[in-house]
Amino acid sequence: MPIHLNEELKQFHLQSKDSSYIFTVLRNGQLGQLYYGKRIEQAESFSHLLVIPNEPIGNATFPFEGDDTFSLEAIKQEFPSYGTTDFREPALHLWQEDGSRITNFVYESYKLMKGKPGLTGLPATYVEHEDEAHTLCITLKDEKLASEIDLLYTVYEQENVITRSAQIRNNGKQDINIERFLSAVIDLPTSEYEMCHLDGAWIRERHVTNRLLARGVQYIDSKRGTSSSQHNPFLVLKAPHTTEHSGEVYGFSLIYSGNFLAGVEVDHYDTARVFMGINPFDFRWNLRQGQTFQAPEVVMVYSDEGLNKMSQTYHRLYRTRLARGEWRDKERPVLINNWEATYFQFNEEKLLAIGDAGKELGIDLFVLDDGWFEGRNNDRTSLGDWFVDLSKLPNGLEKLASEFNKRGLSFGLWFEPEMISEKSKLYEMHPDWVLNMPGRLRSHGRHQFILDLTRKEVRDYIYERVAAILSSTNITYVKWDMNRNMTEIGSVAWGSKHQGEIAHRYILGLYELLDRITTGFPHVLFESCASGGNRFDPGMLYYMPQAWASDNTDAIERLKIQYGTSYVYPLSSIGAHVSAIPNHQVGRTVPLHTRFAVAMFGVFGYELDATKFTEEEKEIIKCDIAFYKENRKLLQQGTFYRLKSPFEQNDVAWMVISEDQNEVILGYYRILAKPNPGFERVRLKGLSTDKKYEIKGMNLTLGGDELMNAGFILPPFYTGTVQTAKTNKEAVGDFQGMYWKLEALN
Ligand code: DGJ
Repeated sequence: MPIHLNEELKQFHLQSKDSSYIFTVLRNGQLGQLYYGKRIEQAESFSHLLVIPNEPIGNATFPFEGDDTFSLEAIKQEFPSYGTTDFREPALHLWQEDGSRITNFVYESYKLMKGKPGLTGLPATYVEHEDEAHTLCITLKDEKLASEIDLLYTVYEQENVITRSAQIRNNGKQDINIERFLSAVIDLPTSEYEMCHLDGAWIRERHVTNRLLARGVQYIDSKRGTSSSQHNPFLVLKAPHTTEHSGEVYGFSLIYSGNFLAGVEVDHYDTARVFMGINPFDFRWNLRQGQTFQAPEVVMVYSDEGLNKMSQTYHRLYRTRLARGEWRDKERPVLINNWEATYFQFNEEKLLAIGDAGKELGIDLFVLDDGWFEGRNNDRTSLGDWFVDLSKLPNGLEKLASEFNKRGLSFGLWFEPEMISEKSKLYEMHPDWVLNMPGRLRSHGRHQFILDLTRKEVRDYIYERVAAILSSTNITYVKWDMNRNMTEIGSVAWGSKHQGEIAHRYILGLYELLDRITTGFPHVLFESCASGGNRFDPGMLYYMPQAWASDNTDAIERLKIQYGTSYVYPLSSIGAHVSAIPNHQVGRTVPLHTRFAVAMFGVFGYELDATKFTEEEKEIIKCDIAFYKENRKLLQQGTFYRLKSPFEQNDVAWMVISEDQNEVILGYYRILAKPNPGFERVRLKGLSTDKKYEIKGMNLTLGGDELMNAGFILPPFYTGTVQTAKTNKEAVGDFQGMYWKLEALN
């Protein structure tokens, strides 16, 4: 049993394979945090881990008269509140009818469960068999408010994961206004960590950022209504000198797609308080008698073997116990998407020609992107009018899909269901369906507004339109796009008391809609997208097992984007395509083999006009696609290791290895050429020391131990700038990418 209880001392010890998480009931009935870190054995008492300052605390405040040691500002806590002697970032802040913000939620009871309950209305990790995880529910009660908080802790013992979430129930007579209700707070005894997070912007999402923790509050957040490309709902604390392969790491990932807050407060005792949840900024939730409010889930991963081990833990859990549905474990099709090939200018003939060319190369699926519905010839119009444009596609979508099917391709379609263009029939009929504050400007984003998904009739309309198309046309893939952030957040459907709820209600509405659509059409593979990676988060992954990582398809930029994304998200979720050169986002010209060598480490496809390839290119691409298909399971489901970081150096390397350690693909990339370079070697990871590996195409067999310790020495013809008799002419110069397949000999 991975959860130990000490009834007498009221201590709770959660144990995963490699980590321990211990907390206790404090003298005042609130919860105190005792330990989170590498697994330790269960002991009779952990009371001594509750450290309090040695010196009398000068200007501190104390709840118990005569006791100058017990001050909450000096005690590590589990779910701290404001106003009762702690001055750090609280987990909750509630305004009550009498104007009070003071609460006193104290321990009431606990419950142990096998498995893991779902969270009402929110995505969360799950179990398939109840033995996979154990859950502890701690109930706290505030007598005066007659309200309760359930803190839910789930231990996935074997997966090495602990999850947390919180729920508040108003059983009292008065309304409670929730100003802040975070998912988790974790107090760590030291602040000797670097805080690492994934930041960016459109076309440079999820770049790895590091900063040393300093006294005060440091946080990332989103106020954009999406989780955002600026900051991902994820942060890491890592001990000094931590690398990809060694060192102590704590990962915190929030399963949520809207405004979030994630940060660390370092106090005057140099303890570090991690806090994470829905962003309290611009948030106020009116909780009436009998109602509950559920905060999203935080997934915590501890690793003492560096960042790779943390990421691999997230990958496994998110691939198998967050993503759902028929496509979760299936190998994903190689697709071709027409967006960068045609943008809005296409007709049936052009699309079929691209499909034909793709089919000849080995592609499985044709995806028709934006521009297929009535009037949509540019991005200023028609969102919401989900009816096929017969002037572009006179035979309709059904016929088009069947033409692709006849050619042996399946057919996929783009939607942007959450949006409405001012120039649309839908807007003429329902101008009030837009998120807005009456009497205020309605800001555009890409010339469009956001539909008010807090309203059931709006969600029903979207469901009905999307479902009508999915039911009448043979569609096996949907790209679900979302291309702007939220502004002037408000809804005419809700009274003034509820306006602070709208951003979160939108996300709840979105989740409900996604649930209906994805479970209603289980055979469809859904890929989420938000101007590329503006909503690449675990919440979306619950409904859609893959996401378009970025609108930036340049392979060199993708090295950083995919490297950063892989901190949390599995390769099976990272949409990655080969596109045309010069690249449309950065104008760079990168060799075809490099474009393939980068995009194959993701859910792979093409995003270009396949009719334009030369005969020579076609032959190469046929081999590339055949290689990808042969190795698709390994590339989508294998264990991924980052070896050399684009954020630290000019050379980048990563690899994927099968569970049985028999198959490996190593990718190596040199961003700028080095004249007269030294010998390069890369040490592989995770191989079997008992096995010998054949390096395909090199007539070379080396031991797993040698490959991991002495390393793999890169063939010299690859790394230089000068062409010689031995040179592979393709591989000279800037932007080189190569890959090798290794197979264990039996
Ligand atoms: C933004 C997406 O990220 C692109 O891939 C493309 O689908 C466009 N939207 C279409 O408008």
